[in-house]
Amino acid sequence: MEIEVVRLAGPHRAGLHELLVAEGWDHVAKELQENGLDVFTQYVALRGERVVGWLEGTLRYEAAVDIPRIPRPWAQVNFILCHPSMRRRGIGTALLRRFARDETSAGRRFVVLWPDRQDAYARTAFFTALGFRPVPGTELLGTDLPHVLTGPAH
Ligand SMILES: CC(C)(COP(=O)(O)OP(=O)(O)OC[C@H]1O[C@@H](n2cnc3c(N)ncnc32)[C@H](O)[C@@H]1OP(=O)(O)O)[C@@H](O)C(=O)NCCC(=O)NCCS
Repeated sequence: MEIEVVRLAGPHRAGLHELLVAEGWDHVAKELQENGLDVFTQYVALRGERVVGWLEGTLRYEAAVDIPRIPRPWAQVNFILCHPSMRRRGIGTALLRRFARDETSAGRRFVVLWPDRQDAYARTAFFTALGFRPVPGTELLGTDLPHVLTGPAH
């Protein structure tokens, strides 16, 4: 399956909205419509013209808090989503790797995320496959960015 990961641009917005609604993430769709997509960095996975995945993370944003033993600035994933009908085909991996590549080029070495405790099985399996582990002394999962780029998943 040919998947291309690109930075979100105007023509992808309607497709992203459809993807979020397909997952039942209407509240996120509404929030993005109201507050824009400009604070964080947005990527979409395209299959042809169709938006089949989305990742929102840092790039320009820099958190004001410190994480024990992790040098700032670190990268952060806010959301990652693959269309429900297209899971386990490497789309999440492609999104995360593209993000990791850009963050590495921007000089960051570590990536974190705040795990959602609801319905956590698939995402925990996914992030574990990409090398994420609990960050000691925090509620975060994290890993070295080079690990995301070279790890085993897809
Ligand atoms: C988490 C999510 C983005 C993964 O996307 P994906 O495109 O299906 O993931 P990939 O195909 O790249 O999976 C890579 C590896 O992760 C692991 N993995 C992913 N989903 C899994 C699942 N449901 N069960 C077990 N392992 C899983 C596997 O090791 C997989 O490799 P394999 O298929 O060769 O075994 C997707 O399940 C999703 O959109 N979930 C709903 C939204 C969500 O919970 N987002 C995260 C919080 S914001």
